[in-house]
Amino acid sequence: MICKCIIMKTNKYVQNKPALSKKESLSCSELIIRYYRRRHLWCSSTSFFFSGFFKQMFQYSEEFRNRSLLKMWVGPVPHLLLYHCDTVEVILSSSKLIDKSFLYTFVHPWLGTGLLTSTGDKWRTRRKMITPTFHFTILTDFLEVINEQANILVEKFKKHVDKEPFDCFLDITLCALDIICETAMGKNIGAQNNKDSEYVRAVYNMTDLIHQRQKTPWFWPDFLYALLQEGKQSDRALKILHSFTDKVIVEKANEMKNHQGSKGDFIDSCKSSESKKRRAFLDMLLNATDEEGNKLSYLDIREEVDTFMFEGHDTTAAGLNWSIYLLASYPEVQKKVHRELDEVFGDSDRPATMEDLKELRYLECVIKETLRLFPSVPFFARTLNQDCSIRGFKIPKGTNAIIFPYALHRDPNVFPDPEEFRPERFFLENSSGRHPYAYVPFSAGPRNCIGQRFALMEEKAVLAILLRHFWLETNQKREELVLAGDLILRPNNGIWIQVKRRRTHMG
Ligand code: HEM
Repeated sequence: MICKCIIMKTNKYVQNKPALSKKESLSCSELIIRYYRRRHLWCSSTSFFFSGFFKQMFQYSEEFRNRSLLKMWVGPVPHLLLYHCDTVEVILSSSKLIDKSFLYTFVHPWLGTGLLTSTGDKWRTRRKMITPTFHFTILTDFLEVINEQANILVEKFKKHVDKEPFDCFLDITLCALDIICETAMGKNIGAQNNKDSEYVRAVYNMTDLIHQRQKTPWFWPDFLYALLQEGKQSDRALKILHSFTDKVIVEKANEMKNHQGSKGDFIDSCKSSESKKRRAFLDMLLNATDEEGNKLSYLDIREEVDTFMFEGHDTTAAGLNWSIYLLASYPEVQKKVHRELDEVFGDSDRPATMEDLKELRYLECVIKETLRLFPSVPFFARTLNQDCSIRGFKIPKGTNAIIFPYALHRDPNVFPDPEEFRPERFFLENSSGRHPYAYVPFSAGPRNCIGQRFALMEEKAVLAILLRHFWLETNQKREELVLAGDLILRPNNGIWIQVKRRRTHMG
């Protein structure tokens, strides 16, 4: 076994010492399916690095739930494993300990050093510039896109009504991909219907290659990787990804210039009702300025658009899939969601508004509880850029720390019967007073997920449309899901559901 675990003893000897003394022509759907299968092979047969690593991390965190810290060896690199609210808080609440671990460097060729991967002043300036991009008003515009794409998903689900169980994983993922493409870049790539987009293929190819590289230490040195077939594939995918984003940025910038030449502010004109143009994150990025009034360069913008593409669809797709699975497994919970939907929408088939979504409080608790049990990002890692102290242990600069929400969210002292799916845990009266770092699916503190509100809105809107149309059932047992905890937590065997039509008037 490559990963080894050492329990940090709380005796004086250990406390006074540094705690860690060392330092191609496939269609898109075929490609996506192959992508998931390959993961499955890795997970089930080789039990190597991250697949086995995730499983091992969880086993150790359960076995040593009452110990303060664990040290795990990931190949040649020691990692500190954190899964208690107070230990996680030390890292996440710090405005200094914001450097990502070396594993994120394999994402750099695609994302550069955008918001997810950058650090220091670059990250601080970017974060300030980009935060207004996720403003409520632009999210309201995005709801229209989400509703449209979710309706396409409904049409696909209708084909399965009263039929055999089917795996909905891919359908949901393509819907999330269409949503992020249109909201981030203003481009409708029609992935749900168009089975063969070169860009979509490149997204999946690249994501797959990044995962593989992270798992395989001999792929780590750049010079070696460049010589390998995988390195060459990665170069090809990068060219497609970057030239697509470059083209979209130039088109948008020209559009904006032409507009400014004729009608004044482009963003405002997008808002006006006579113009049917929709705003995208890209429009906001082209207009964003820092405190000195400097704009982002095209390259800076590409980093951020690519980051949204990478971070913004797999995560929400996983969250939606897990919610569907849990709702189908817990009919009592699903009935409550249906009741709430009926109260808000009655018999109408109108599209959901922001006000409607606000009313869907129980559905929100369902989404939160799903993200507790199945956090889309099951762990994430930092490299400490200065010494710190955790429960009396001195942790030296240079240590790699893994924050492990999957285990943190299963602390029975905070969430009794942790494996039970109980959305009521997130009712105000049940969650007030809970430790603020006990539940961190979107991370927490200064480096939390900037897309959190967008993600919750998307999940709520898509689930609301699906559940207004369908009753969901499943026979799949939890143990049949087979979890793959790489960068994103997924069911290796897909999500198998049966759908029944709920209402006749909704088509
Ligand atoms: C259910 C959906 C999502 C979950 C669970 C999630 C979770 C997370 C987590 C755990 C982090 C911290 C990662 C780390 O420290 O390495 C993060 C960061 C980030 N997320 Fe999300 N995310 C979701 C959706 C989105 C969406 C929809 C977007 C964009 C449209 C997005 C954009 C980002 C960005 C840019 C960062 C980096 C923020 C920074 O470091 O300042 N995420 N997300």
